[in-house]
Amino acid sequence: MQRWIEACGAGQSPDDLEFRVILPDGSVRLLSGRGKLIYDTENRPPYMAGTVNDITDRKRAEEQLQASREQLRALTGRLHAVREEERTRIAREIHDELGGALTGMKVDVSFLIKSSEMIKNEAVKASLITGIDALNESIDATIQTVRRIAMELRPGVLDDLGLVAALEWQLKDFQKRTGIRSEFLHSAEDIGLDADLSTGLFRIFQEALTNVARHSDATEVHVRLHSEAGSFILEVEDNGKGIEKEKILGSRSLGLLGMRERALMFGGHVTVTGIPGIGTRVTVEIPPGEKGSMDRVRGGENG
Ligand SMILES: Nc1ncnc2c1ncn2[C@@H]1O[C@H](COP(=O)(O)OP(=O)(O)O)[C@@H](O)[C@H]1O
Ligand SMILES: [Mg+2]
Repeated sequence: MQRWIEACGAGQSPDDLEFRVILPDGSVRLLSGRGKLIYDTENRPPYMAGTVNDITDRKRAEEQLQASREQLRALTGRLHAVREEERTRIAREIHDELGGALTGMKVDVSFLIKSSEMIKNEAVKASLITGIDALNESIDATIQTVRRIAMELRPGVLDDLGLVAALEWQLKDFQKRTGIRSEFLHSAEDIGLDADLSTGLFRIFQEALTNVARHSDATEVHVRLHSEAGSFILEVEDNGKGIEKEKILGSRSLGLLGMRERALMFGGHVTVTGIPGIGTRVTVEIPPGEKGSMDRVRGGENG
């Protein structure tokens, strides 16, 4: 109460001044006061007028909301991680098991070709070889499909060669599939980030590209990867119609929300801007620091 009166006296606007009171039964309540001093003709404050609200329940609800937001965020992070582990496992299994079986078939086929050459009857030999060739081709096509499926589940290049190579590969594939001209600029030869951050950035990148293909009507996309004052920055810019303002934070924009949540896991953030007729830019910034980029950078600009 004293603080309130002092605040009023100091000429501050004491709106919503919060204070704690301890009731006779020992319980603590949070109050919010709002008031003003009334001055007499000699400019002295003879009394004050105002209201005091008990905001204990509102405060508690706010704290609970904040806590449940944090829990949701942690849950989302865990879901991403589990999903990524699962995808990696399935990709490996498909690659190793199916890939292995198909390679075995190739060996059998080459044995068949050799054996069939010993057949005396030319007509039988020719038709057999035609059949074997067709089989061989379909095995090759299946090997390609298996590779593609494994790659889409979890690009091995991300684990083997790192983020830069994976982004490059993804962008080339994107250009091939969509015909949208793509350019990739990066200021570091080999930015070796830790696996979680690489995966997070890669998935954000994939979502950004999917959006360009699906919504932008762009003919070009420019991707830049660089570090600035220790922060790690990834930009995807298209020359399409430009995202509408209300879509940027729209409740249905779950893809964009997912990008933000992923960046937030590393203390970073995503900025989306659109100019009608000029294009859309998605910028992901991961700051340095405890969970930030510099600890994670093995290579960096100088090495
Ligand atoms: N590159 C872009 N150019 C134009 N509009 C975009 C672009 N990216 C996103 N949008 C708009 O923002 C919306 C939300 O995107 P997103 O959250 O990824 O959801 P979704 O792709 O499932 O529709 C899209 O439906 C689209 O209207
Ligand atoms: Mg999307």
